[in-house]
Amino acid sequence: MSKQFYITTAIDYLNGPPHLGHAYEKVITDVIARARRSLGREVFFLTGTDEHGQKVQQAAQAEGTRPQVYADRLAAQYQALAAKLHLSNNDFVRTTQPRHQAVVQAMLRKLHDRGDIYKAPYQGFYSTKEETFLTGKDRRPDGTWDPFWGEVAEVVEENWFFRMSRYQQWLTDYIQADPSFVQPDYRRNEVLGFLRAEKLEDLCISRPVGRLNWGIPIPFDPGYVNYVWFDALTNYYSVPAALGDPAAVQPLAGYLPPPASGPAAPELWPADIHVIGKDILKFHAVYWPIMLQATGAPLPKQVLVHGWWQKDGQKMSKSTGNVVDPLAVIDEWGVDAFRFYVLRELDIGPDGNWTDAGFQARYSAELANGLGNLVNRSLAMLKRYRGGVVPARHDELAPDAGKVVAEVQALLEKNHLQAALVGVWSLVTRANQYVDHTAPFKLAKDPAQAKRLDEVLYNLAETCRVLAVLLWPFLPNTAARIFAQLGLSGAPDQFSAAAWGGLPAGHALGEPAPLFPRKDPPAAAKP
Ligand code: ME8
Ligand code: MG
Repeated sequence: MSKQFYITTAIDYLNGPPHLGHAYEKVITDVIARARRSLGREVFFLTGTDEHGQKVQQAAQAEGTRPQVYADRLAAQYQALAAKLHLSNNDFVRTTQPRHQAVVQAMLRKLHDRGDIYKAPYQGFYSTKEETFLTGKDRRPDGTWDPFWGEVAEVVEENWFFRMSRYQQWLTDYIQADPSFVQPDYRRNEVLGFLRAEKLEDLCISRPVGRLNWGIPIPFDPGYVNYVWFDALTNYYSVPAALGDPAAVQPLAGYLPPPASGPAAPELWPADIHVIGKDILKFHAVYWPIMLQATGAPLPKQVLVHGWWQKDGQKMSKSTGNVVDPLAVIDEWGVDAFRFYVLRELDIGPDGNWTDAGFQARYSAELANGLGNLVNRSLAMLKRYRGGVVPARHDELAPDAGKVVAEVQALLEKNHLQAALVGVWSLVTRANQYVDHTAPFKLAKDPAQAKRLDEVLYNLAETCRVLAVLLWPFLPNTAARIFAQLGLSGAPDQFSAAAWGGLPAGHALGEPAPLFPRKDPPAAAKP
């Protein structure tokens, strides 16, 4: 066995149903995972849910149910989203799983033994009504507290702290030395700026059970549970460790039960890419590497940071109804239309803006009239004029296809997904122009042009086949349907199959069917 390409998403909080931001992050991670598999790597793709903490405890209380019951119900919604998005994840971690808790506790015990975790008084302002500590930032400009917080009292309580401060210089040097550790560059500069400007505080990692019991018990102090980023971040490591990955197990030797003997464990750690949103950059680029360094475990290779979606130029918010429900969009337009829009509209990095008009415009121009029309008319003509039997190979579009294939491969290797899609569409456009220029429907009327018609039809069918391979990471459902319509068995999941000439003469097509049906505007919008 050799090390797999290991890629993760953030694990989602269960404080509400999944939204566009969650779905977007999972889709970009899925595209990278599928692309790497297509390019020949073995890939392990992990996603999951972050289930402990105050919000879940309170939400369960409000429903009069146990936190685990509430968490099970919400986690099922996130698992359903993963299936609906056609994610190719290899595992789904829930932080309430025993396999995860065992690793969090092992790490806590090792860091405690090393002297990196200590107990100290924690002073703060506590809102009993909201059951939370407040900071100076929560004060109103005149220094008072908003009545929302109820009575706010200064309290001192003992808590457990993780000694992060001693790693500040080490981490600064590390990030400076490895420009790829945080990407894009402007996010890396943000982290370096923070590390230079501010003194790193030790991290409070516990809550007394009297205030919060919905958490992983601190193994060396029964009066406390772990709170909550320490628990959440460790998910990336606990799954490999639980699967017996030697690189994850070894640093916790003596703290974890030896892995059950069984089939050879996968080699996953260190993660190749953690995909996250910009709001949780500090946790991933500062806290997490320090936790691993203190544990004596290798660091992940990259934290890849995406931006935030807005809707119609405004922050999405449930209270104003300004949200995009990914499930509703998928039900109406199909999963690949959803995947296409978010991938084509927004590169990994900047913020994006969802508009329904923009979604419909891309659906109509690029999917229905672009790709869909190309595939449908190419295969329909081959069916009508040649009984669906592929003519002799001809290479007129081979140079165009070859150029796009090379370009897309290079872009996929750099995770430049939006640019790769633009590249794929340049081949769609080229082939649609080719139909218009060669006019096979005219050639078909002239028996003297039979050979030319064969040539054109081969070039079109073969271009559709190449497109299916290129599209697989992005639009797996559509790619598989193109393959089926071409009468090809198996999935278009190997990038090497994008080499020109794969369609053999004499091969019989399957049934053509529209990939992206044209949609009438909603009835209400009609005059
Ligand atoms: O932060 N646009 O969970 P979360 C794009 N449990 N991405 C968005 C977004 C938006 N409008 N809103 C949220 C957490 N996200 C923690 C993570 S990881 C060890 C623990 C992204 O449910 C957000 O940036 O609040 C994050 O990467 C992910 O969705 C989960 O957010
Ligand atoms: Mg959040």
